[in-house]
Amino acid sequence: MKRILSGIRPTGGLQLGNYLGAIRNWVALQETFDDCLFCIVDLHALDTLADTSTLKNDTREMAAAYIACGIDSARFPIFVQSHVPAHTELAWILGCLTPLGWLNRMTQFKDKAGKNQENALLGLYAYPVLMAADILIYKATHVPVGEDQKQHVEFTRDLAGLFNRTFNVDFFHLPEPMIFGEAMRVMSLRDGTVKMSKSDASDYSRINLLDDADTIALKIRKARTDGDPLPDNLENLKDRPEARNLINIYAALSGETAAQICVQFAGSYFSTFKKDLSDLLIAVLEPIGAKMHQLLREKDELDAVLQRGAESANKLANQHMQEIRNIVGFL
Ligand code: TYM
Repeated sequence: MKRILSGIRPTGGLQLGNYLGAIRNWVALQETFDDCLFCIVDLHALDTLADTSTLKNDTREMAAAYIACGIDSARFPIFVQSHVPAHTELAWILGCLTPLGWLNRMTQFKDKAGKNQENALLGLYAYPVLMAADILIYKATHVPVGEDQKQHVEFTRDLAGLFNRTFNVDFFHLPEPMIFGEAMRVMSLRDGTVKMSKSDASDYSRINLLDDADTIALKIRKARTDGDPLPDNLENLKDRPEARNLINIYAALSGETAAQICVQFAGSYFSTFKKDLSDLLIAVLEPIGAKMHQLLREKDELDAVLQRGAESANKLANQHMQEIRNIVGFL
């Protein structure tokens, strides 16, 4: 049995990295997998969100984004993590098995906590355990994510194995990360060495799915580049991270390889390339944005999709949770 689970934090809309690194791949995978679950991980949003006043809207906006990008909510549950309590119950059980040393190795915690780890929050530190529970509660076998989440999926595999060994069972599958395409790691438009992210202070560092055509064109025009023309091969882009990033984005959107895009634009200056890139971005993102706006006007229907999603997710999660309680030995 093959089953996909993936999720995105609803922290202020979707950026291009989420779309190209994750959700677009989910849309393709739903054609080959009979069993998929798509989660909006609102509990995970708490570890970076000081102010929860926009959380309800952000959660609906994420649901609208999933549907507008092409997730088929009639076939597969789209649901909100906090609507399925078994995630947090399993997270506690897994947390009681997790050696601190495993968590200390997580690079995302180190990046986000920065130098002042004394003030970092427990939720941020324990976050990979909740992510493992998100995946394991459904016994998912495949987890399509961007490259930045690979370490967390590997942690999930280790934890699944540890649970099986501890209780001498063969209960959890070891889930596989699925990372593919030219956009496994979309980088910031302001600095080609850091990933594009919703938490970057500058909105010019990212393209948001709800940006209008003028904003997209402006952001791409302002994207940091160098003064050299584009080379005809990727080898010559090794030390030009911003140029490489824009080529990767173009390739991911057009369905060609980065090498093909290099050949196509060899010798062109960024002024030409950027114009073509923003036209392509607008052609792909504008219909998604329009559909999202339409869905967001029909809140009741959106909430009904999430309610149906929660019902089927709870059904499977509760069935597994009962088995887990028996394995662990609760009365
Ligand atoms: P999050 O919300 O940061 O990102 C959601 C998905 O988008 C991918 N992604 C990117 N891919 C390429 N380039 C980028 N710049 C970029 N930025 C984000 C991420 O790799 C991810 O696939 N911990 C997860 C959410 C999560 C989850 C889960 C994922 C919670 N439970 C269970 C899968 C399964 C996170 O913070 O993703």
